[in-house]
Amino acid sequence: MDKRIFFREQLLLWHQNHHRPMPWKGERDPYKIWLSEIILQQTRVQQGMAYYENLLAAYPDIRRLAEAPEDELLKHWEGLGYYSRARNLHATARYIAEECGGKFPDTYEAIRQLKGVGDYTAAAIASFAYDLPHAVLDGNVYRILARFFGLDTPIDTPAAKKVFGQLADALLDTGQPGAYNQAIMDFGATACVPKSPDCGACPLHTQCEAFRSGRVAALPIKSKKLAKTDRYFVYAVFYHREHIWVHQRGERDIWQNLYEFPLLELAALPADTGSLPALLLSQFFPGGAPPGTRLRGISKPYRQTLSHRVVTAVFCEFDFPEKSKSADIQNDMAGDFQKIEHFKLKKILAVPRVIDWFWQEKDITLRFI
Ligand code: ADE
Repeated sequence: MDKRIFFREQLLLWHQNHHRPMPWKGERDPYKIWLSEIILQQTRVQQGMAYYENLLAAYPDIRRLAEAPEDELLKHWEGLGYYSRARNLHATARYIAEECGGKFPDTYEAIRQLKGVGDYTAAAIASFAYDLPHAVLDGNVYRILARFFGLDTPIDTPAAKKVFGQLADALLDTGQPGAYNQAIMDFGATACVPKSPDCGACPLHTQCEAFRSGRVAALPIKSKKLAKTDRYFVYAVFYHREHIWVHQRGERDIWQNLYEFPLLELAALPADTGSLPALLLSQFFPGGAPPGTRLRGISKPYRQTLSHRVVTAVFCEFDFPEKSKSADIQNDMAGDFQKIEHFKLKKILAVPRVIDWFWQEKDITLRFI
């Protein structure tokens, strides 16, 4: 299936299954939507809800807001911060009451012209209130798209707005733009979060490029970031008779073109590494590991310092039963891995240093396999 269609369908499905109750959800009144979106510009959902309810109780429609004394509105706004939002809200309410006959504008362009309304807020209002096909684009959407599609355009560059903007537009479900926008907002806020997302539980992970290539923690990329970042690599070392499975790393990340075992990158290592083998097996054998697969062991963490990164790697070793058919294993294994005789790993292929360290310590054991 086309990756974009998969993305759209799974996102909407995810949203149906992860209802996040919010008072403005499903709302069609542009006034109420506008009010909620202005509040949410710089305020978290949890804090914003009470303010939304109080403001709506005080000003049930746009005329009542337009007629309110500004000081009174500011009093209601107290504690939310960014008071220019309240002043813009007031000025816009007056403009709509006086210049538009009290009718909220109903085109994207007209909504975008309102004071305090930027691209994101205009797209949200236009889609929620009028089903207009405008996709929201913000840091959450950048992160989701960068990960799912494996985009490494730095998100703090002008190029990103174009690249991500075009993709976001193409992904939008034009039949239900409001539902789609709400789904991607909630997905970014609760599932595809910046740190330690629970990828195993995410219904999109089977086609997520960052998940596949172990770059969830590395994406999205910011050009200005040069700090040392910790990365956590969990490797699956699969043994079958004299064979192991490896793949060659790509050009775009550390360790270009070096070989490694099947890799799962995590945002952090769990306190108890005992949960890692199951995670690896479900990642590389989504349809179930070969019957009789046994865990040989979990290594200690190996740490390698690079110029801007510290990589911590843990290796989980598995034995497939002798009697398993190699072709079946290869068939069931998710990802682009090649089977090699294990002695070649050190003799022929170039590997990252952490893998070398781990492998050297194994050397003695391997002679007896
Ligand atoms: N952030 C901005 N608009 C939002 C909305 N409608 N729902 C949740 N979070 C948001």
